[in-house]
Amino acid sequence: MKALVLAGGKGTRLRPLTHTSAKQLVPVANKPVLYYGLEAIRDAGITDVGIVVGDTGHEIRRAVGDGSKFGIDVTYIPQEAPLGLAHCVLIAEEFLAGEPFVMYLGDNFLVGGITDLVDAFRGAGHDAQILLTRVAEPQFYGVAELGPGGEILGLEEKPERPRSDLAIVGVYIFSPAIHEAVRAITPSARGELEITDAVKWLIDDGARVHSHLVSGYWKDTGRLQDMLECNRIVLEQIEPDVKGTVDGLSEITGRVVVERGAVVEGSILRGPIVIGADTKIISSYVGPFTSIGSGCRMEKTEIEYSIVLDDSSVHGVSRIARSLIGRNVEVSSAESMPNTHEFMVGDHSKIRVCS
Ligand code: DAU
Repeated sequence: MKALVLAGGKGTRLRPLTHTSAKQLVPVANKPVLYYGLEAIRDAGITDVGIVVGDTGHEIRRAVGDGSKFGIDVTYIPQEAPLGLAHCVLIAEEFLAGEPFVMYLGDNFLVGGITDLVDAFRGAGHDAQILLTRVAEPQFYGVAELGPGGEILGLEEKPERPRSDLAIVGVYIFSPAIHEAVRAITPSARGELEITDAVKWLIDDGARVHSHLVSGYWKDTGRLQDMLECNRIVLEQIEPDVKGTVDGLSEITGRVVVERGAVVEGSILRGPIVIGADTKIISSYVGPFTSIGSGCRMEKTEIEYSIVLDDSSVHGVSRIARSLIGRNVEVSSAESMPNTHEFMVGDHSKIRVCS
């Protein structure tokens, strides 16, 4: 069995971060979301992995390389434009070479791995297997309608009026039957070749499509609140580990990781949190569910339930919460009168001040 990981696309909902970097590389507990998927694939015993890349391909290649650090062998498949998930299968046909494969959306996060799902598919003789989970806002996903015996009655991509709350999770397993389906369908109203339409085509053609309800935790990390939630879930399970330097005036409670070279002085760290390598936390409070990247500086600042990417600094700001701060960002308090807010903010940014 092979794996096809989709890491192209645009990532408009995580702008401005995704203006300059791939959405699949936004970190969860200081590790790119894509890495969790690659590790799950490896743990399921799959080593032959194709990664579909678009405009941000250079970055994905830099981060993943030939795959050896994950114990997999990666083949890159460039996609000229984000023409849809089924288009990715079309252009990967040669790589897939008639083998069954797992298709894994590179911005999806699934707790518990995929080993059981892959093993179940291997023995079952199905043409396709999709995963479903209950969500609060099904209109943002592919949606399935099931019959009383669990059979799939209908599939729709981002319907205005969803017929159920069962969203299609971004991990699919296909037999080679999918190739005929992706060739047969036409682009949707949003101009993409939808994998949901291809699966529907298979069902209409009489293929054996199995659906499996996921009870564990799953998120499509396309939106800020989903990123923060993923971060929370992963941090809840981290093993405390302090490799950096924490002075005697600081106080640490709960699951806290302080990576090598980090310095904590006169601060309160309340886990679960992770502080990246070579970051300085001075006279600050870092509260639960916060990941701070490497090379950052937090001074006289309070922050919780947030993600800060590498090489950013925050000085004299209380209290930051529910925030995602990009790379090389500077946030500081303006100490002069009058009491003004001063901004230099990139396109598509979102700022909420309390005033
Ligand atoms: O996350 C689950 C949802 O994923 C499903 O419920 C939907 O049925 C499915 O269509 C898909 O919807 P999204 O609109 O969230 O997909 P998105 O455009 O975010 O793309 C998913 C991943 O695939 C992402 O890592 C980018 C990559 N991609 C996307 C497109 C359209 C590509 O590599 N090439 C593409 O052409």
